[in-house]
Amino acid sequence: MFKNITKYACTISLLLAFSVAHADDTLFSTNLYAKFQVKACTTCHDFHEQDKDGLYFNSHAKRRDVNRCQKCHNQKVTGFEHTADWFAMPGLYLSGMDAKETCEEIKEALHAKFKSDDLLAAQMENHLFNDPRVLWAIEGATPNSGKLPFKKQEANLVKGGMEEWKTQVMAWVNGGMKCE
Ligand code: HEC
Ligand code: HEC
Repeated sequence: MFKNITKYACTISLLLAFSVAHADDTLFSTNLYAKFQVKACTTCHDFHEQDKDGLYFNSHAKRRDVNRCQKCHNQKVTGFEHTADWFAMPGLYLSGMDAKETCEEIKEALHAKFKSDDLLAAQMENHLFNDPRVLWAIEGATPNSGKLPFKKQEANLVKGGMEEWKTQVMAWVNGGMKCE
């Protein structure tokens, strides 16, 4: 009897170990969803959303002038080559969306349904690996990642650095950008 239980437990733990080792990294939900939902990404995407307490309605209510963003979020703060790249707009994926919604919204923002798989993949890679706002939100991707005006700092960044980000994004892109 005892021997049987041991045998059973062994099989279960082997199965568990196997499934952990083989978590499907072609799915958006496996690695990327949690990374896309860090505050460093979503606070900016939520900027104009009143029901998500977007900054436009609180700390930035008197900082709405789109020509002044770069006065505070200047090059010393962001490290951006073009300071004007620090901006926010609606119509992007938001905090609180689940994995499927987040993924579908990303594709929609890139007008996926009008593009071949190859074109979409190329543009997705370009955005996720080169966009200065994305790099700002990844821990260690640039010396200025997470930096905010008045010596403030966004603490909730994408962890794991650029190498891990690239590996995980490429697994998803090469796997067909599945939204599960
Ligand atoms: C400072 C604000 C800001 C931050 C921080 C930011 N984004 Fe964005 N994001 C934008 C804006 C603005 C756009 C629209 C860009 C455009 O159309 O040129 C955008 C667009 C996107 C798109 C849609 C693709 C596209 O080209 O329109 C994706 C995907 C995206 N962001 C992912 C992220 C991820 C992932 C992070 C964090 C690692 C992040 N963003 C951080 C502002 C930001
Ligand atoms: C007077 C200086 C000032 C101006 C102008 C300003 N900001 Fe900010 N911004 C800050 C400070 C300080 C913070 C730190 C947190 C806070 O105050 O909300 C911040 C935080 C942010 C964040 C949060 C990033 C994060 O992940 O925590 C975003 C996004 C942002 N600003 C976008 C903008 C945009 C877009 C504009 C222009 C429409 C703008 N800011 C104009 C000073 C400024």
